[in-house]
Amino acid sequence: MTSVLIQCVFHLLIAFVLPCQPITWREFGNIHPFVPLDQAEGYQKLFRQLERDLCEVTGYDKISFQPNSGAQGEYAGLAAIKAYLNSKGESSRSVCLIPKSAHGTNPASAQMAGMKVQVVEVDKDGNIDLVHLKALVEKHKASLAAMMITYPSTFGVFEENIGDVCELIHQNGGQVYLDGANMNAQVGLCRPGDYGSDVSHLNLHKTFCIPHGGGGPGMGPIGVKAHLAPFLPSHPVVAMQSVNSSRSLGTISAAPWGSSAILPISWTYIKMMGSRGLTHATEVAILNANYMAKRLEGHYKVLFRGRKGFHAPTMSWPVAGTLMIEPTESEDKAEMDRFCDALLGIRQEIAEIEEGRMDSRINPLKMAPHSLACISSSNWDRPYSREYAAFPLPFIRPETKFWPTISRIDDIYGDQHLVCTCPPMEAYESPYEEKIASS
Ligand SMILES: *Cc1c(COP(=O)(O)O)cnc(C)c1O
Ligand SMILES: *[C@@H]1O[C@H](CO)[C@@H](O)[C@H](O)[C@H]1NC(C)=O
Repeated sequence: MTSVLIQCVFHLLIAFVLPCQPITWREFGNIHPFVPLDQAEGYQKLFRQLERDLCEVTGYDKISFQPNSGAQGEYAGLAAIKAYLNSKGESSRSVCLIPKSAHGTNPASAQMAGMKVQVVEVDKDGNIDLVHLKALVEKHKASLAAMMITYPSTFGVFEENIGDVCELIHQNGGQVYLDGANMNAQVGLCRPGDYGSDVSHLNLHKTFCIPHGGGGPGMGPIGVKAHLAPFLPSHPVVAMQSVNSSRSLGTISAAPWGSSAILPISWTYIKMMGSRGLTHATEVAILNANYMAKRLEGHYKVLFRGRKGFHAPTMSWPVAGTLMIEPTESEDKAEMDRFCDALLGIRQEIAEIEEGRMDSRINPLKMAPHSLACISSSNWDRPYSREYAAFPLPFIRPETKFWPTISRIDDIYGDQHLVCTCPPMEAYESPYEEKIASS
């Protein structure tokens, strides 16, 4: 028991506290991104080591740390593909195939990189529709530049024929961009470079421990196979070793190595976890996702899952009317159970309405969240108790309750009726008489 506890505490330390500490040291934090390289040898060493580790994890040959986010990595990767195709005299290739199950940033990045997006259908199990893919490839083979694949997809499905898909694209002169933001489900188990992909971005602020709440800085480095390496980003101020700026795709962010000040977090995380620890984290992340699906099965419809399991990436609404949840490796079983109990409680509240036991308009589900002001108001005329409104499940108690500051707001109304909250110019104007007096 004690050892389990110690292990948990240790894991927590590894996952959150220890890797972040070094970025507060002035040796890391107070260096200008444009200092002469001989004044930042430590950083250069860190880049080299992190590059080696990330190449090992992904199966790629070279990493560029210039992109600051996943989406920027996508743009950089596609620009590298474009530069590569141009160098072969194939500048007319501009079609980018993207399955419906891709992350929303994919088509946006392809558009920005000057490519023409063609959407590939998915089948009822969430897999890429191979018949449709083959038809599209056939139709566009003369102008095929790339295919972007989110793997596992935004539906949480590991495409079983990922290898065949990569091969098909290559046979028809295209390059494969594998969106690597969902590496939580792969690190230590399998590598994009081995499926046949040419380039991927990694979200270090998702998979490699950089905290990313509240819009903090991120890092979306890209890994590439050797043939794309000459085209990686360069920089006009800082000469980057091993990048030939006359072939490079150009520059995609202000600093040569992006938000390098946060890279010590990922470096430390990888070194502290070691290869066994990283693999274990991946296994736990997949197990947690499947555990949660199992506990909710029968109460909620699980939309997609592969034959041998799935891994829901991030928490979002990829399909209208669904919620996708990624528990990750960081939550322990008790926390996941609490979360499942909350979801099951919500399902129960839905059932009460379905079965006519609760008013369809005024009910705990639609009136939630209940703020302290709402609960303590002297006129309470709802068909459920104040106690239920405040403490719907046994683990929500006065000592632990987190009170929402506001009750439900009508998001859709707000989205559709934009209101300018900034005062008009006249509000800043002083009265005419005052102006005359002060001039
Ligand atoms: C998060 C995510 C992205 C975009 O990454 P940002 O850092 O938010 O730009 C792209 N693809 C997938 C699959 C993601 O989950
Ligand atoms: C950089 O690339 C250009 C164009 O391919 C080539 O002519 C030049 O020799 C390269 N320079 C170096 C230093 O490799």
